[in-house]
Amino acid sequence: MSKVVFITGATSGFGQASARRFAADGWSLVLSGRRLERLQALQDELAGQVPVHIATLDVRDSDAVQKVVAELPEAFLPIRTLVNNAGLALAPEPAQNVALEDWHTMIDTNIKGLVNVTHALLPSLLRTGKGASIINIGSIAGQWPYPGSHVYGASKAFVKQFSYNLRCDLQGTGVRVTDLAPGIAETEFTLVRTKGNQAASDALYRGTTALSAEDIAEQIHYIASLPDHININRVEVMPTRQAWSSFAIDRD
Ligand SMILES: NC(=O)c1ccc[n+]([C@@H]2O[C@H](COP(=O)([O-])OP(=O)(O)OC[C@H]3O[C@@H](n4cnc5c(N)ncnc54)[C@H](OP(=O)(O)O)[C@@H]3O)[C@@H](O)[C@H]2O)c1
Repeated sequence: MSKVVFITGATSGFGQASARRFAADGWSLVLSGRRLERLQALQDELAGQVPVHIATLDVRDSDAVQKVVAELPEAFLPIRTLVNNAGLALAPEPAQNVALEDWHTMIDTNIKGLVNVTHALLPSLLRTGKGASIINIGSIAGQWPYPGSHVYGASKAFVKQFSYNLRCDLQGTGVRVTDLAPGIAETEFTLVRTKGNQAASDALYRGTTALSAEDIAEQIHYIASLPDHININRVEVMPTRQAWSSFAIDRD
């Protein structure tokens, strides 16, 4: 029986690249996201290689999450790896200029959405036991502060701590948990963050070498494929051309 990976946010970026990476290794895929046409296109692309089940899903809707999980076809059970990837940043402006709604959207997606999916899939992951993995996509923003990160970075700090805490409770079950925290990566992330400003997105990635979606997919697949007795707790990965900057000092 082939191994099954459940990926949230499979319509773009890391999630989409991960679907292709796992398919190349023969895993069965459960692909979710809100944009049905993209899920269908990915299914059309990969279904000749491996079994693919798609489900339109807004991770913020806990009833919908439970329904998608309850309706998983028997051939896609139990889940061996959950890639909790769906997420977003909004409003890269200073906190004092940001609409409360944008903060709520990040909390509802990056925290509550991730928790919704984890809670719904835990029984299946526990059924798999040894070799099962939860790979949570955090961010360097969960560890390092920077201007305009406000709730986004805080939501990813939640992802990190939730990952560690889950490990404590899941000890002895065989289920592994990882916080994979990327730095700058060129996906649709900045287009979403700037609410469709393609020029701003292009400017951010211009003249440097960001991580690619495929770079992160490779690491997700690697973590999921390690021998059962190895748990990668946290991976923080930046492109070589990204590093920290100096402290900011307010002067007269
Ligand atoms: N790119 C970076 O620099 C970077 C760095 C560190 C961490 N990350 C994290 O990596 C993850 C993936 O981001 P990405 O860079 O691949 O960005 P992306 O290309 O914008 O992809 C984000 C994915 O999340 C899905 N998504 C967003 N809101 C959702 C919701 N409410 N319900 C279900 N799916 C939802 C989107 O699908 P639909 O719109 O179709 O629902 C899309 O597939 C995010 O958690 C992000 O915070 C990104």
